[in-house]
Amino acid sequence: MFHLRCIACGEVYDRREVIYQCPRCSGLLEVVFDLSEISVTKAEIESRAFNLWRYRELMPVEDYTRVVSLNEGGTPLYRADTIAEEIGVKELYIKNEGANPTGSFKDRGMTVGVTKALELGATAVGCASTGNTSASLAAYAAKAGIKCLVLLPAGKIAIGKLAQALLHGAIVVGIKANFDVALKLVREICAKHNIYLLNSINPWRLEGQKSEAFEIADQLGFEAPDRVVVPVGNCGNISAIWKGFKEFHELGLIDELPVMTGIQAEGASPLVRAFKAGESSVTPEPKPETIATAIRIGAPVNAPKALLALKESRGIAESVTDEEIIEAQKLLARKLGVGVEPASAASVAGLKKLVEAGEIDRSERIVCVTTGHALKDPEIIFHRYEKPIEIEPSIEALEKVING
Ligand code: F0G
Repeated sequence: MFHLRCIACGEVYDRREVIYQCPRCSGLLEVVFDLSEISVTKAEIESRAFNLWRYRELMPVEDYTRVVSLNEGGTPLYRADTIAEEIGVKELYIKNEGANPTGSFKDRGMTVGVTKALELGATAVGCASTGNTSASLAAYAAKAGIKCLVLLPAGKIAIGKLAQALLHGAIVVGIKANFDVALKLVREICAKHNIYLLNSINPWRLEGQKSEAFEIADQLGFEAPDRVVVPVGNCGNISAIWKGFKEFHELGLIDELPVMTGIQAEGASPLVRAFKAGESSVTPEPKPETIATAIRIGAPVNAPKALLALKESRGIAESVTDEEIIEAQKLLARKLGVGVEPASAASVAGLKKLVEAGEIDRSERIVCVTTGHALKDPEIIFHRYEKPIEIEPSIEALEKVING
């Protein structure tokens, strides 16, 4: 079975308690499985459909036949030889999370999170979001038939994500402040009005996201890569992925653990600064800024978990500029045919920077996670890339174009 435990003071809590932080010390909570009770073989896993529920023994739900699912997970792991060559590494893979039902890795968290909400008797769910979380929660709440409230930093949400939240019928509220403020506000309103909170502070949600690690290992033939590079905002995903690798390792399903590498945008990089300064907590950035709006976060709530993941895996953290992000987005789009939103490209931009700086061994086997689909943020493409060419409808005009 499984229960909740505080990562700071170690206090344990029953899985039926509706809590998001340790009631005793306010520390972050994590879900702990009794792994000695779990026996699942590689062959059993391989006999199942390739989606998140392939790893059902490690998903903390009461009855997996009653989960709220849109068939999330099962995303492609592309071998990216052309990009590997460009960056100068031996073996590179792209784990394309944009291929999830609503176009981001958040769906992995929400299938478990919304299932948990129903198990705990919730009739409404809520979140603050830089966009993807709200799009995903809106869709899963619709599937579950419960109400959904999303708080967004007004004017700072990529249009595709905003459209999704509206499409799926959530109550969509723009807050005239940044994500960090919206998160504070949603936590208050959720507590006050019995709305189940599904930001990544919610430990159940991160359990779904740890399946990214299971899949990467599975797709590499039950082997961990040397390194996994992840874009970082609120610090939930990198922590979840690390937890997933640790559990597979403890169960003997993989022999090695990867090194975790977290990448933030330069204008929103509190984790990177704390990591480089060797600090055990982050100093919030009051005015985070980057074109990668998904990771425009100054006060990441899961920072203690991410710092632990970096420490335990002997990992590193680095920041990249908006220009480096766009360059990497272009590389993925034009050398691999994979369209990702800016935040996602941060992983590849960070890898390139770290390889050039000599911080990463070129002979490593590396997986970069790309977290969200390009269509989430079409405006960035219109602003930063070539414009379409308009001509009169004649062969001569068309020939002028194709002849450059
Ligand atoms: N990449 C994308 C595309 C995201 O949407 C996010 C987070 C991240 C990376 C960073 O993940 O927060 O777990 O470190 N988006 C959240 C949201 C904050 O509201 O959609 P993280």
